[in-house]
Amino acid sequence: MSRPKVDLTTTLGPVTLRSPIVAASGTVGSVVDFAGAGDFSVYGAAVAKSVSSDPWQGRDTPRLSSSGEGMLNAIGIQNPGIEEWARQIGPRIGEVPVPIWGSAVGHDAEGFAEVAGGLEGAGVAAVEVNLSCPNLDDGHLFALDPTASAEVVAAVRSATDLPIGAKLSPNAVDIVEIAAAAQEAGADWVVLTNTVWGAGFDVNTRRPKLRSVVGGYSGAPVKAIAMRCVWEVAQALPGLPIVGCGGVRTGDDVVEYLLAGASAVAIGTAHFAEPRVGGRIIKQLERYMTRNGIARIDELVGAAEPW
Ligand SMILES: Cc1cc2nc3c(=O)[nH]c(=O)nc-3n(C[C@H](O)[C@H](O)[C@H](O)COP(=O)(O)O)c2cc1C
Repeated sequence: MSRPKVDLTTTLGPVTLRSPIVAASGTVGSVVDFAGAGDFSVYGAAVAKSVSSDPWQGRDTPRLSSSGEGMLNAIGIQNPGIEEWARQIGPRIGEVPVPIWGSAVGHDAEGFAEVAGGLEGAGVAAVEVNLSCPNLDDGHLFALDPTASAEVVAAVRSATDLPIGAKLSPNAVDIVEIAAAAQEAGADWVVLTNTVWGAGFDVNTRRPKLRSVVGGYSGAPVKAIAMRCVWEVAQALPGLPIVGCGGVRTGDDVVEYLLAGASAVAIGTAHFAEPRVGGRIIKQLERYMTRNGIARIDELVGAAEPW
């Protein structure tokens, strides 16, 4: 990392990050296989693609499409299962100049717990609990239900001593209720948010842009939606650390999330167009801080001014 003129460290409960930016799950592969393309030295952490207990094949193509300024995806968490993941990725975790967080997904609480144990064994620094993937076959989404979310987080909590973050969905009717349930069950922080349900159609072929028709929408247009979630949770649950996530492309986007109440900010879709986007964003963030006489990240966290 270039020598910072400002202090970029931030905390998420028990975890101290050297930088407030995090690479979002599913947008940087398994981190180790993206290392040549990205610039991980400027991130506080990077989250590997979600992994399940057994291998998942993923959805049929087409499963990625543009839509306006954003992206539709329905990858379906294609992954080799935790055993194979740990065998392939575990020995390489030390190669990358950034703490790697694993991401657990599953069909039930036991599955999530098994993955969390496997991720810890493989050497990740923290476990993100992906309660919010909108691409499961039955359309089921834990993050819409506080009881189901709490059950999964509690199972993961008892399966690992690592810090855990719960990744929630902007599709939840009451995001505060779900965040409170995750916190109560043992989550150290929440990630707000995963993708928004979306769909699109090709006007020439008249076919859906995704084989599954409905998928997850991400990128610039979802920023205001995720920001609203961050704001609501920060207001209602001030003791719960938040990683903001959705539509981040610039240093100002990071500042906006911090002002809304996030302590760290994840970058996802921007990696597809600009794999080294993190370096540019950190320079912009440092410039903003210097210009405004801000020495530390925590001076910005939740620092939005009232009207
Ligand atoms: C192609 C693609 C794959 C993704 N895969 C995962 C995943 O495996 N696990 C997960 O928790 N989130 C996944 N996400 C969601 C992102 O991590 C992020 O939460 C979301 O895209 C919003 O941030 P963004 O607008 O910066 O992309 C995926 C997103 C995209 C675009």
